[in-house]
Amino acid sequence: MGISFVAAAPICYDTGNFTTNSTYGKNRDLILASLPPNVSASGGFFFNASIGQNPHKVYALGMCIQGDTSDRCSRCLNFAIHDLMASCPNQKEALSWGGDLLCLVRYADRSFYGNLEVEPTERGYNTLGITSNLAQFDTIWASLIDKLVSKASNGNSSLKYATGEADFTVFQRIYALMQCTPDLSRVQCSSCLWQTASDYDDCCHGQSGGYVRKPSCYLRWDLYPFYLPNASNTDPTSPPASIPGSPPIFTQGKFAFAR
Ligand SMILES: *[C@@H]1O[C@H](CO)[C@@H](O)[C@H](O)[C@H]1NC(C)=O
Ligand SMILES: *[C@@H]1O[C@H](CO)[C@@H](O)[C@H](O)[C@H]1NC(C)=O
Ligand SMILES: *[C@@H]1O[C@H](CO)[C@@H](O)[C@H](O)[C@H]1NC(C)=O
Ligand SMILES: *[C@@H]1O[C@H](CO)[C@@H](O)[C@H](O)[C@H]1NC(C)=O
Ligand SMILES: *[C@@H]1O[C@H](CO)[C@@H](O)[C@H](O)[C@H]1NC(C)=O
Ligand SMILES: *[C@@H]1O[C@H](CO)[C@@H](O)[C@H](O)[C@H]1NC(C)=O
Repeated sequence: MGISFVAAAPICYDTGNFTTNSTYGKNRDLILASLPPNVSASGGFFFNASIGQNPHKVYALGMCIQGDTSDRCSRCLNFAIHDLMASCPNQKEALSWGGDLLCLVRYADRSFYGNLEVEPTERGYNTLGITSNLAQFDTIWASLIDKLVSKASNGNSSLKYATGEADFTVFQRIYALMQCTPDLSRVQCSSCLWQTASDYDDCCHGQSGGYVRKPSCYLRWDLYPFYLPNASNTDPTSPPASIPGSPPIFTQGKFAFAR
């Protein structure tokens, strides 16, 4: 198996609770259920919506990685939605990455459209560190990240996404993926992604693979091509790419915070 994100649990914000069977709760369930078809209809890129009247109004968004109309995108969204409903029975605000970084589902009792939100941060990395040529790894890494931040943040209003690879040693390449929610401006996206790079420096410098995810953007890197080379090209029935023998990933970071 590739890196598994088994420990992934939704992030539940501690910003208020609703009661079972309340109007807010029903609105939340309704809007979450409407996301998968609407995200698919938008090309798998991004969909945001709201439902109800204050104080029962719920805002939500759904997004698949790199824009993906395949079955995989819907499966991920449905997984994330079930995850949210099961793990957040009464939280007014929460988000889920669907367990494996293929999609994002988020809801709240406030509008977050166009907001740059860099906390809470979740970070995870592979136990396999780079043991030699670390200085070279750092140089190549920095140049790859620089390119990807610029490419992703220059995306359009439906997709701010970039992947790239660079030779590390004769036998190894570094692969990285960066994405922002596309409601961010170019400047916001770039700022968010630079913060993921700085988180990498703090938590995971020299680790051969891992991720940093924030409500507004994320970064993932590894020594194998974990991302889909071209989503629209991929057989929708094939399972996500995975490479045998990748070591397990440990997660760390804040899972809840108070505003
Ligand atoms: C919401 O409920 C949880 C228990 O489910 C509790 O720990 C938390 O303090 C509550 N938060 C607010 C803001 O009321
Ligand atoms: C919520 O509604 C369901 C179905 O109407 C009912 O069976 C259940 O007892 C209600 N729960 C609470 C806590 O009111
Ligand atoms: C989202 O999907 C639902 C159910 O498929 C549909 O009724 C609704 O109109 C869609 N919302 C928008 C804003 O397109
Ligand atoms: C998303 O929400 C914002 C603010 O509520 C709204 O202006 C925008 O039209 C929505 N976008 C989509 C694609 O529904
Ligand atoms: C944004 O870019 C993607 C990928 O290049 C493209 O498929 C999509 O149609 C573009 N969307 C808009 C609104 O330009
Ligand atoms: C994806 O594949 C299609 C069809 O082969 C091709 O036209 C398109 O340029 C590819 N997109 C990227 C980003 O490689």
